[in-house]
Amino acid sequence: MHTVTTIAEVRSLVAAWHAAGQRVAFVPTMGNLHAGHIHLVSEARRHADRVVASIFVNPLQFGVNEDFSAYPRTLAADQAELTAAGCDLLFAPGEQEMYPRGRDGLSFVEVPGLSDILCGAFRPGHFRGVATVVSKLFNIVRPDVALFGEKDYQQLLVIRRMVRELNMGLEVVGVPTVREADGLAMSSRNGYLQADERKLATEVYATLQAVAAGLRGGVTDYAALEAEAVARLERAGFRPDYVSVRRAEDLVVPPAGEQRLVVLAAARLGKTRLIDNLLINLD
Ligand code: PAF
Repeated sequence: MHTVTTIAEVRSLVAAWHAAGQRVAFVPTMGNLHAGHIHLVSEARRHADRVVASIFVNPLQFGVNEDFSAYPRTLAADQAELTAAGCDLLFAPGEQEMYPRGRDGLSFVEVPGLSDILCGAFRPGHFRGVATVVSKLFNIVRPDVALFGEKDYQQLLVIRRMVRELNMGLEVVGVPTVREADGLAMSSRNGYLQADERKLATEVYATLQAVAAGLRGGVTDYAALEAEAVARLERAGFRPDYVSVRRAEDLVVPPAGEQRLVVLAAARLGKTRLIDNLLINLD
């Protein structure tokens, strides 16, 4: 695997692959890779001849009191994992390469509506930061297909809408969440959990499953299911931001009779913010 840090190097390698008629897949990440990321790389291999990954801890998507400085940077271990997974090229730019004029006064990409609800309401500016860096990365790498984990379901929909509305001309593939044996969704932030919190953390998935069971059992009072789920998480020691039942396609409050739903949760446990979701098809 090549590792490069400049935009010019990525462009030249990818241009050569495209000139040779090869299809290029892209897996953007912030590093500190786990089995969920590696699964994205393996899936990427099925979609293309070449796989490019990126590692960039994007300051624009962190709020002022969030974990930008503490976010784990584990480049050497990540390179070894990507190499083993069959990644062809790693783009690992520094901040100067991505934002040479600094972080302020930059052009940005906004996906209104989808970005302001759920996690966006608790993390103002987060999805603008994500949309901006992902569009920059797409412009740099110019992939034919990009893969994102469904664990960040709202992020996936923000990126899908951005790609469609700005005619970016690539395919966006969502890949199902990879879970630990006890159900906890894999996340780089799970490493922040203390041992006792790690045991409790499975309660997020268990709570989502309880909501899903209610929906499958015919409950249509979403507000009651959400309130019950929030209370369950609070009893277990979490500080929930939300548990919400939404239409899977666009995250609006589901109209009566909607069959394709997603239940999403975000909750803090100690200093860790956990998010997870479950897609439910009532058909
Ligand atoms: O999901 C992530 O790791 C990040 O939000 C992404 C898509 C790499 C953008 O920084």
